[in-house]
Amino acid sequence: MEENKEPIVIVAGTRPEIIKLTPVIENLEKLNMNYLLVWSGQHYDYELCKIFFEEFKIPEPRINLNVGSGTHAEEVAKTMLRLEKVLMKHKPSIVIAEGDTNTVVAAALTATKLNIPFAHVEAGLRSYDMTMPEEINRKIADAISDICFAPTELAAINLMHEGIPRNRIYVTGNTIIDVVLKYKDKAYKKGLELINKLNLEQQNYLLVTVHRQENTDNSERLLRIFKALEKLSEYYPIVIPMHPRTLNRLKEYRFYGKLINMKNFVMLKPLGYSSFLGLLMHARVVLTDSGGVQEEAFTLKVPTITLRYNTERPETVLLGANTLVGAEYQEIISQTLKKAAKYREIRRKLEKVSNPLGDGRAGVRIAKILSNIIEKTEVKEFDSRDDPYITYTIVDNITNIDERYVVSYYNEEVATLNKKQAKKALIRAPLSYIRKLIRIFKKY
Ligand code: UD1
Ligand code: UDP
Repeated sequence: MEENKEPIVIVAGTRPEIIKLTPVIENLEKLNMNYLLVWSGQHYDYELCKIFFEEFKIPEPRINLNVGSGTHAEEVAKTMLRLEKVLMKHKPSIVIAEGDTNTVVAAALTATKLNIPFAHVEAGLRSYDMTMPEEINRKIADAISDICFAPTELAAINLMHEGIPRNRIYVTGNTIIDVVLKYKDKAYKKGLELINKLNLEQQNYLLVTVHRQENTDNSERLLRIFKALEKLSEYYPIVIPMHPRTLNRLKEYRFYGKLINMKNFVMLKPLGYSSFLGLLMHARVVLTDSGGVQEEAFTLKVPTITLRYNTERPETVLLGANTLVGAEYQEIISQTLKKAAKYREIRRKLEKVSNPLGDGRAGVRIAKILSNIIEKTEVKEFDSRDDPYITYTIVDNITNIDERYVVSYYNEEVATLNKKQAKKALIRAPLSYIRKLIRIFKKY
């Protein structure tokens, strides 16, 4: 017998989503929870979706919305139209999605407009760059989520600064760490096999992934990156499992012909999980614009060059693993060579740092929280009909606050997660509750 009759609907549609949701799915299964996996079809190539269902041994989704590629509006709108029908038919207790893709924002909007609670995994990451489609998607998803699973304390603080009530936020760790820890031994061996096959040496090649819109859809930027890689290939062999978006653009910009004839340059199809992770862990340096790869590289202590001007994973930069170089020709070359020369030292330093991104138990935590919430059916904090006058106030004496109403704790101007350290709290509550609070404070 399943624990819950109404299913949890899990929506995914791209490569990183299925990778990062796998630990949640596995743990919901362990708890015998009834779930329904819906694939939007934003990614459809074998190498971007099916390969992961096979490797992770997750049953293929029963429902595929077959949305395919398109403009942002097309991908979001088609997902919403098709998902709405599914949600109306299956009447889920909750809808969950992970990350910052068009599939995720569409899932959040569709669920919340049907008044179905929405839970966002990997909430609170911010690049503060609104030209990135991912930043738009994650801000919208977080703002309308009933439950925010923040991977780190920093992510939780970002949410609190945006006025998301504290009781909607759970700090769980990032599920990618669960996946890395589970697959790293298999990946080690797979990586060695691949390296042998490709005639490479351990820690003596550069691994590259590029696919973000801001890099691929700007010909000058993409060509600067690839010309920098051409220069770097004079020093180290370059391996690049190529995202189809990048491949298409390189053909359009007439660089592809040159690339296939370049010496010291290994171009591959997108790889399965343990093959990719294997190539990552044996690389001297990874160059990437991917979010997930920055997290994996940090976890595996691989020096990282991020081909972006910002990152929503600042912990990796602050702790010395990651350097932002944007799409600048000289920077890419000089910073990569610097990291490549010092890679042993960087790895040694990172051995001593505990991983702020997670401990490998995010999936267990998320599944448990979901099952508790569903059992208690307590997703909504209060019925605003009881008191429609919702207001905000800052209070100094935090000991008497009903935790349900706390948006953020503050220490001077700094938002903190810790009530003991905090001096003030921002609360969002019905007027009647705030009146009650004022009466309590007057006694002191
Ligand atoms: C999407 C996400 C991005 C995420 C990436 C993961 C958005 C806005 N972007 O980017 O945040 O990092 O997935 O990989 O949601 N294509 C294929 N085969 C496929 C899928 C795509 O050939 O199976 C090609 C098509 O030409 C398509 C292009 O890639 O037009 C872009 O696909 P799309 O899903 O729109 O964005 P991604 O770049 O994959
Ligand atoms: N990945 C993979 N095969 C590849 C390249 C990447 O399995 O050839 C994995 C990688 O390990 C990481 C995820 O894909 O877990 C990252 O996805 P992507 O870079 O497409 O998206 P982002 O993380 O930038 O949203």
